[in-house]
Amino acid sequence: MLIIGLVSQKGGVGKSSISRALATHYASKGLTVKISDLDINQSTSYQWQQRRLQSELEPVVSVECFGSVQQAMKQSSQYDVVIFDGAPQANKATQQIAEIADLIIIPTGLSVDDLQPSVILANSLKAAKIPARKITFALCRTGDSKSEYSEAQQYLESTPYRLIDGQIQERTAFRRAQDAGRSMIECQYQKPREQAQAMVAAIDSYINELTKERINEYA
Ligand SMILES: Nc1ncnc2c1ncn2[C@@H]1O[C@H](COP(=O)(O)OP(=O)(O)OP(=O)(O)O)[C@@H](O)[C@H]1O
Ligand SMILES: [Mg+2]
Repeated sequence: MLIIGLVSQKGGVGKSSISRALATHYASKGLTVKISDLDINQSTSYQWQQRRLQSELEPVVSVECFGSVQQAMKQSSQYDVVIFDGAPQANKATQQIAEIADLIIIPTGLSVDDLQPSVILANSLKAAKIPARKITFALCRTGDSKSEYSEAQQYLESTPYRLIDGQIQERTAFRRAQDAGRSMIECQYQKPREQAQAMVAAIDSYINELTKERINEYA
């Protein structure tokens, strides 16, 4: 089983959007996928799945709300991929997700106000004995300034954590896609769709890198 955790201290950074993109990606490869929506106050991914089902979109992705990581894991043993869509400011759950996940993704915007809390969160996970290799950042909701992007990139690359290649720009098309029960990789407009697909591919390739490292460790 592959376990991926999307976490952040801040709200609205793209946790749910990336969770859905990854979920539809793995489901389209024939894997069984479950999004464990830990945001029981908003349960936005659960609501998104309802829209998806209403529109009879394929592939089918399971989404279930859980009050705790432990509860979610008890119900997920039969899935190939489990994606934790974290709630903002969920310190205890974030730590628990990080402990069991193969990969942790912290989506972040480009402003200092977004970047600093993201690095602080990563540092707190590392201080709590989560291996730095497992902790990644994904640049989301970015603008079209190249200098802003490259400064953020430089800053994050100076940390012990991996910056996932690529970015998800702020696009109405991503909102509209998700309003209609699609994921960002199923967006009807080619350019944003390819951008989301590239980010998913970069995440997948980093997961493969980590898996190879683990195999070598045991060899
Ligand atoms: N790249 C983007 N372009 C435009 N809108 C986006 C983009 N990414 C996310 N959004 C929109 O911004 C809102 C927040 O995104 P999302 O739900 O993915 O963030 P989140 O981190 O899960 O938020 P929360 O902390 O509230 O759970 C949603 O309405 C979503 O449709
Ligand atoms: Mg969310």
